[in-house]
Amino acid sequence: MRTDSEIKYLLKSMDVSDRKYFIVSTEFMVLAANRFTMETHGKDIIGKLCHEVIYKSSHPCRNCPAVIVLKTGEPSLRHIQEEQKSPKWSSCRYSYPIKNANKVEALTLLDFHQSAREEIEVELERSNSFLRNLILSSVDSVVASDMTGKIVAFNEAAAEITGYSQKEALEQLDIRNFYPEDGARDVMKKLRSDEFGGKGKLKLYQTDILKKNSETVPISLNAAVIYEGDKEVASIGFFHDLRDELRMQSELENTRIQLLQAEKMAALGKLSAGVAHQLNNPIGGITLFAKLILEEYELEEGAKEDMFRILKEAQRCKDTVKELLEFSRQTGHLIKPNNLNKALSRTLFLLENQSLFQNINITKDLSEELPDVPVDIQQMNHVFMNIILNAAQAMDGCGELTIKTALDKDRRKACIKISDTGPGIPRENISNVFEPFFTTKEEGEGTGLGLSIVYGIIQNHSGNITVESASGKGAVFNIELPFDRVVDEKENKGEDCE
Ligand SMILES: Nc1ncnc2c1ncn2[C@@H]1O[C@H](COP(=O)(O)OP(=O)(O)OP(=O)(O)O)[C@@H](O)[C@H]1O
Ligand SMILES: [Mg+2]
Repeated sequence: MRTDSEIKYLLKSMDVSDRKYFIVSTEFMVLAANRFTMETHGKDIIGKLCHEVIYKSSHPCRNCPAVIVLKTGEPSLRHIQEEQKSPKWSSCRYSYPIKNANKVEALTLLDFHQSAREEIEVELERSNSFLRNLILSSVDSVVASDMTGKIVAFNEAAAEITGYSQKEALEQLDIRNFYPEDGARDVMKKLRSDEFGGKGKLKLYQTDILKKNSETVPISLNAAVIYEGDKEVASIGFFHDLRDELRMQSELENTRIQLLQAEKMAALGKLSAGVAHQLNNPIGGITLFAKLILEEYELEEGAKEDMFRILKEAQRCKDTVKELLEFSRQTGHLIKPNNLNKALSRTLFLLENQSLFQNINITKDLSEELPDVPVDIQQMNHVFMNIILNAAQAMDGCGELTIKTALDKDRRKACIKISDTGPGIPRENISNVFEPFFTTKEEGEGTGLGLSIVYGIIQNHSGNITVESASGKGAVFNIELPFDRVVDEKENKGEDCE
């Protein structure tokens, strides 16, 4: 039982409100009403039929929630538009039953100030849709999922990267299928740890996602857990595609390596040129005086043989000096349009008859539409000779040598591919083969200068040379030479030596 004081306050609380609050019998007779109802409809409202007092109607209104309550025994809510005499007035009426032993004894009717309620709803909806738009219009891709893995936000940028439409992602995609393998679990594990940007956060994490077509895409991810109190309710990830960035990084790394190589070559070139010049005169002297001795003195057979050996060794020194000068571009050059197919055929013709080539099957696949290329033909002969000799030596005189020329797809470069079926170049050696003095040949058999000279020549022709190989799978040398190279007249500082 309530105390008198409780009852007094309950009644007072009903009277202070500016909403209608009244109780009717099951016949719709007003049994009690608060102050506001009485001020609106008259103090003599008690004992009268509510539809008569409020609507001047002889029967209960069709929409009255009290009628529904009487039918169902359950509370009911109705919008009531007709009664809006003042904007402050309610336009929504709520009715609930007062029961006694499960039987409806009376009905309560309570009006809402609906305009205020709607304003709140509209405001809430407006701020919700603003937040939704804020997230969805992000330039970064956005994906959010609830704790069951269901996607709850997926913007256009995410759709563009992944190939899922927003509808597909929201209706069918599970966050676990968004990452390859255990990626989703891994991201959640990191989010829950303190180490990756603080608890509930993951910053600049590089991982992969799975596109609709099962292709993987590397991404940079910033993610966060969304909490309600202490409870995890969702997670959200902002990410962007890393493919372009990674491609650029790898191009930069390649350029850096090439620059390094070019720098090394330039430094070595200068050094070689200096040494070669210093050696040229004494070698010339040795050759001249050895020849004089042979001509002017009657030498015994043994001494003569020694003198010839001196001459032969001096010639070898001269050849090496020439190679070094070639490498450092100290010899004369003549760059003019040349037919590379002919140059390759000539080199092969010179080599084919040597014993090393007797058991080598040579296949020529030379493109007839290959235009002339601006090159120093003597240097090109040198390039082809070096690469082909290396191939024959690697195959130990037995195997397949294939030489192919073609135009690149833009028709701006000539492509030359020289491949063999030798043992190939082990991975650890690949980056060294163009280095000067790198050789795997026995002492005295190779100087290790061949490919470094080749590299220098191709660079000087604004071309590019690469090698592909794997142990046991032969080696493939690819050369590209541009057709549209502008020849600086100063480059042509020698005689035409073709
Ligand atoms: N076709 C090939 N197959 C396997 N290894 C190769 C091939 N071409 C080059 N190489 C490797 O690259 C190294 C360097 O070659 P490079 O032509 O510069 O020097 P070299 O042949 O050893 O000596 P040089 O050419 O001065 O007589 C070789 O010693 C060899 O290990
Ligand atoms: Mg060689």
